[in-house]
Amino acid sequence: MERVFSGAQPTGNLHLGNYLGAIRNWVALQKDFECIFCVVDMHAITVWQDPKELRSNIRELAASMIASGIDPEKHVLFNQSQVSAHAELAWIFNCVARIGWLNRMTQFKEKAGKHRENASLGLYAYPSLMAADILTYKATHVPVGEDQKQHLELARDIALKFNNDYEVEGFFPQPEPLILGPATRVMSLRDGSKKMSKSDPSEMARINMTDDADTLSKKIRKAKTDPEPLPSEAAGLEGRPEAKNLITIFAALTNSTVDKVLSEHGGTQFSGFKQALTDVVVTKLAPITEEMARLNNDNAYIDAVLAKGAERANAIAQPILRDVKETVGF
Ligand code: ADP
Ligand code: NA
Repeated sequence: MERVFSGAQPTGNLHLGNYLGAIRNWVALQKDFECIFCVVDMHAITVWQDPKELRSNIRELAASMIASGIDPEKHVLFNQSQVSAHAELAWIFNCVARIGWLNRMTQFKEKAGKHRENASLGLYAYPSLMAADILTYKATHVPVGEDQKQHLELARDIALKFNNDYEVEGFFPQPEPLILGPATRVMSLRDGSKKMSKSDPSEMARINMTDDADTLSKKIRKAKTDPEPLPSEAAGLEGRPEAKNLITIFAALTNSTVDKVLSEHGGTQFSGFKQALTDVVVTKLAPITEEMARLNNDNAYIDAVLAKGAERANAIAQPILRDVKETVGF
């Protein structure tokens, strides 16, 4: 069976965009692939993380993955820092990758911003660690969003250069991006031109995976819309990003399409549609939210799952790392 590596940063405030854009798709991969799900805590510290919050965010992300349907018995779920092969291989890859390659990474430029000289060296080398995450398991497929495509390209370049430099053709596979159907991009509830994001300072802009029914209802009721009723087909959403976003969320959560939702609700007012959307969001998220709450009260269970996962990840990574070290001359 082909192997998938998926990583998520434990940086808190898990929202509906993370769920519909990433986690839900990973759940679906479990039937066709051997999956390695990694809470990438080492990536998280490329920017400052409060240690106490980081520890609780690691557990919370693992809990939300399990609550969403990730099966830690059939697949591997662990946190990156507990499997040292990631760091060891990343160092070797730092010596394979060229500075010129990393200089081209647009995400570093965006994240470092104007204060580039003050960014951590880790933030700069991030793609090299990501290459190690994937290749330490010789994973063949990686589900990536738009923002990670360039990094996956770099991982492919590193794999190829390693194979060439050490004359071990085919040793590392060329990991392929997994494009998971039409990606659901969830936008801010307050501004349809911005992605829903954990870093949005407005709580009202975001549906958190931990929100209770009252909070969900209030956020959806207050979500920005326009005065027009729902159009009867998708073309009528042109230039109406907030309207489009609410309908997209409805379609995604009901496993439907925008066109189907509009054929049913077209011509109605947003006040009524928002009520229907609230019902859908509450119904779909409640089981996940409740399970997350239960798991968040059971640190011992989460810690045991992560420890077991790290053991299994390590069992896959160690023989590969041993071959790498041998190849390099260690
Ligand atoms: P954020 O943008 O809130 O900082 P991350 O960068 O940690 O979230 O993203 C984690 C995963 O969730 C990535 O796979 C990313 O593509 C996905 N994701 C984040 N925000 C959204 C969104 N608004 N819509 C769809 N997917 C999203
Ligand atoms: Na992001």
